[in-house]
Amino acid sequence: MAKTSSYIAKTPDQLGMIQYSATEDTVWRDLFAAQLPNIQKHSAPEYLVGFDKINLPSDRVPQCAEVSETLLGLTGWRVTPVPALIGFGKFFGMLANREFPAASFIRARHDFDYIKEPDIFHEIFGHTPLLTDPRFAMFSQAVGRAGLKAEAKDYAWLIRLYWFTIEFGLTQKGGVIKALGSGLASSPSELQYSVNSNVPERREFDVLDILRTPYRIDIHQPIYFVLEDVDTLFQAAERDLLADVRQAQSLGLFVPAYPPKAAA
Ligand SMILES: [Fe+2]
Repeated sequence: MAKTSSYIAKTPDQLGMIQYSATEDTVWRDLFAAQLPNIQKHSAPEYLVGFDKINLPSDRVPQCAEVSETLLGLTGWRVTPVPALIGFGKFFGMLANREFPAASFIRARHDFDYIKEPDIFHEIFGHTPLLTDPRFAMFSQAVGRAGLKAEAKDYAWLIRLYWFTIEFGLTQKGGVIKALGSGLASSPSELQYSVNSNVPERREFDVLDILRTPYRIDIHQPIYFVLEDVDTLFQAAERDLLADVRQAQSLGLFVPAYPPKAAA
């Protein structure tokens, strides 16, 4: 996702390495240990296959360079640290170039269970397993390519397709709901909520419905879209996504399923 954060980005040194403190490595270690049994229970098989392939360290924050080495061999993607704040234009351009922009800081202990900003745990633990799969890699690149052709006024529309699939998508097989999205894999609280809670609405995957569904980044999602068959997602990448955006714009946004933000 486009990156906005109240945390401060970490800058790689001349060798491309990012320094993390022992305290930060401990946050990674504890997040990893907390989420491992949860993803094994609640995550979709497509995510879990990728998780095994990417083979992340459990006791320290991984370096983007070492994760890129694995990804390059599998799908030709790399993970690139970015400042905490990048715009949609840059975000789409990097995806189109098979480059995954990664916010490099790690959350503080007080944000352990849920953080609205993407941190390095979200970027690496959440995203890179799916990027080992050529199909999700191709879908992500297709969204990036559509974004490159889009006008700025289209960005907020197009990004919903990424948000409700790669970030917060669910799958269903034989009536069993599983979590696909990276925002779920990296959130101790939302992973279980997304598959178990009766509060959120779970809608069938539909590109136009997704493009018309507003979301907020700072709450557990009130609506998830469910893929009965992940191939549906990859077929969506073949569509003229900008034509879909135009159609969604002409139909208009759905009424938000969440309360408006409280005034600051
Ligand atoms: Fe993300």
